[in-house]
Amino acid sequence: MATELALFRFDNELRRRPEDAEEQVHLTPAYVLDPVRAVLGGRIELDPCTTADNPVGADRFYALPDDGAALPWSAATVFCNPPYGEARVRWVRRCAEAGAAGSRVVLLVPAHTDTRIWHEAMTSATSLLFIKGRVKFGLPRANGRQVAASHPSALIGWNVDLRQADQLGSAFLLRDEPPSAHVDIPLGL
Ligand SMILES: C[S@@+](CC[C@H](N)C(=O)[O-])C[C@H]1O[C@@H](n2cnc3c(N)ncnc32)[C@H](O)[C@@H]1O
Repeated sequence: MATELALFRFDNELRRRPEDAEEQVHLTPAYVLDPVRAVLGGRIELDPCTTADNPVGADRFYALPDDGAALPWSAATVFCNPPYGEARVRWVRRCAEAGAAGSRVVLLVPAHTDTRIWHEAMTSATSLLFIKGRVKFGLPRANGRQVAASHPSALIGWNVDLRQADQLGSAFLLRDEPPSAHVDIPLGL
């Protein structure tokens, strides 16, 4: 078992698994979802990547075979728990774009603080929460077991203050609002 885990962690083919792989379904448990919904004002208008039974209970949702990362995200509140591995990059970018457009967004991702996409998100997010303990995702596997994630998790927020969910872990306000999408770059730089 330990050897299998070690091999998984160093197998880049697994980290690059496609978005539609069964292992991409990590359902957000209620103990995380309830405080997130409260931070979003009690209502999740859009879940852009989920299963057809809409387990998050969002007003609107996208599921495969539709590509939620390529469809419109115009919504007042968005909760996104995207596919894992390198597949998450375009979802993180869509969250930042939705935040720049004024949506209130909460993104649940592995707390991989050494990655480029993590640091890209930090340039515009308004708040951040490191979840205490490993999240026990609802994994609809044949044996029905819930397995704790093999990675630490974080919530990244745009136009929300995740300190309101600090029962989940350590939360920080990063800035009052996302920087303007239109940055004036001085000539000559
Ligand atoms: C980590 S799970 C999150 C599920 C649910 N949103 C939740 O938080 O419980 C990611 C989900 O995204 C779905 N998915 C993967 N690629 C997608 C795409 N291009 N468009 C929409 N959904 C997608 C997967 O099938 C999977 O159900």
